[in-house]
Amino acid sequence: MTNLAHHIAIVTGAGAGIGAAIAERLAHDGAKVMMNDIDADRLEKVKSQLVNAGIKSENLAVMAGDVSSEADMKSLFDTALATFGDISLVVNNAGILQQKAFVDLTCDDWDRMIAVHLRGCFLGCHFALPIMQKRGGGVIINTASQLGQIGAADLVHYASAKAAIIGLTKSLAREVGQSGIRVNAVAPGPINTELVLGLSKEWRDAKAAQLPLGAFGEPSDVAATVAFLASDDARIYVGQTLGPNSGDVML
Ligand SMILES: NC(=O)c1ccc[n+]([C@@H]2O[C@H](COP(=O)([O-])OP(=O)(O)OC[C@H]3O[C@@H](n4cnc5c(N)ncnc54)[C@H](O)[C@@H]3O)[C@@H](O)[C@H]2O)c1
Repeated sequence: MTNLAHHIAIVTGAGAGIGAAIAERLAHDGAKVMMNDIDADRLEKVKSQLVNAGIKSENLAVMAGDVSSEADMKSLFDTALATFGDISLVVNNAGILQQKAFVDLTCDDWDRMIAVHLRGCFLGCHFALPIMQKRGGGVIINTASQLGQIGAADLVHYASAKAAIIGLTKSLAREVGQSGIRVNAVAPGPINTELVLGLSKEWRDAKAAQLPLGAFGEPSDVAATVAFLASDDARIYVGQTLGPNSGDVML
């Protein structure tokens, strides 16, 4: 457990998988959490689960919206501020996956992938920055992927978006570090979520066999990395990309 009682957080894509685990971990560690997802039903379900697990409902809020929409993201930040009075931590996590040979990718496939991941991260940072600058500090954590570090066949648009998120993270970290704002990324390896179940069984079996640990990680493993980066223990982590990845990629 880390002490995150000083944080008021926004977590995007919190309706399932890694985002739900991050929201749960941050709330258990004392943060107030505004959860976003494009799927409103999922959000309500996660909120009920957290309340049933003992989290005070006044420490949780939900707001459905698309991270690639400027209007939805503005509403998310406005509502979080109105609800909790501050925002000190933003976890840009929402994501989608699509496995397709490059030759079959359409411009719409490309645009949607870049919009959800890169524009979504941009908008999360864009709305966080003025608030964090005004309050004199904050933490932003962007969800990349190890595939952004090593590339991936049949996932060129996904890996490109994730590589760009690492570039965004490093560049923004350099720009705002002296304002007390720490920007970092996580680059998970294969994690047992719905997103990965969308990949072919052949891909998943081959990947598990390659891993030094021999098994995919769990969403809670990524949440633990996020909790560390959010905590004051990570005060000198700036522009870093941490890899909870079962040893798949070693940098
Ligand atoms: N699972 C993995 O192995 C893995 C590995 C590396 C990186 N990641 C990244 O971790 C993040 C979370 O992935 P996951 O595995 O938990 O996926 P998931 O599919 O289990 O959950 C993703 C959530 O994001 C939501 N979402 C999708 N598009 C959205 C949008 N436009 N606006 C708001 N919410 C939206 C979905 O409704 C869903 O609830 C993603 O960015 C993904 O690329 C996952």
